[in-house]
Amino acid sequence: MKNIVLIGFMGTGKTTIGRLLASRLGRPFVDSDKKVEHENGMTIREIFERHGEAYFRQKEKDMIARLSRYNNAVIATGGGVVLSSENMRRLKKNGVIIALTASVETILERTSRRNTRPLLLDFFAREQIVDKLMSERYELYQKADFSIDTNGNSPQHVINEIMLFLRQAGYLRGRG
Ligand code: S3P
Repeated sequence: MKNIVLIGFMGTGKTTIGRLLASRLGRPFVDSDKKVEHENGMTIREIFERHGEAYFRQKEKDMIARLSRYNNAVIATGGGVVLSSENMRRLKKNGVIIALTASVETILERTSRRNTRPLLLDFFAREQIVDKLMSERYELYQKADFSIDTNGNSPQHVINEIMLFLRQAGYLRGRG
């Protein structure tokens, strides 16, 4: 069975939704960022601080190459995974791509609780940065097989919508 791959901007809920979706489907859940952190013995923030963004992107690319060879998993990716067409080609080859979306306000609200995201550390420039990155990436997220807005929707609702899509598109056979 193909993987189910969640893409989307920071703060759209990929990890939360991914974990719940995996447990609903009885499939393994894997989080690309968490695996990169684990294997490097550092947080994403530390990787950015010590080695820079380009180094992180290479680690992310290596991880995506490995995760793309999985079967039957629910995979949560980092928000910048779409920046590499090679990442997307690999993920698509053995997976169905689901994009989670949210408004800039919602993203700012959700990402303000923790200081774990190196791209959003400048408190006063956060809105401007999110706006800029969002407009740069918008079209890349649009390339997903299915897209679902998480604004004001409960995780349960988002999961139900994803399940409906997966069933209708023939990715599930009588399960879930
Ligand atoms: C990034 C998103 C982060 C993480 C890194 C870079 C991005 O993941 O990979 O901080 O470029 O959008 P989340 O989307 O899980 O926050």
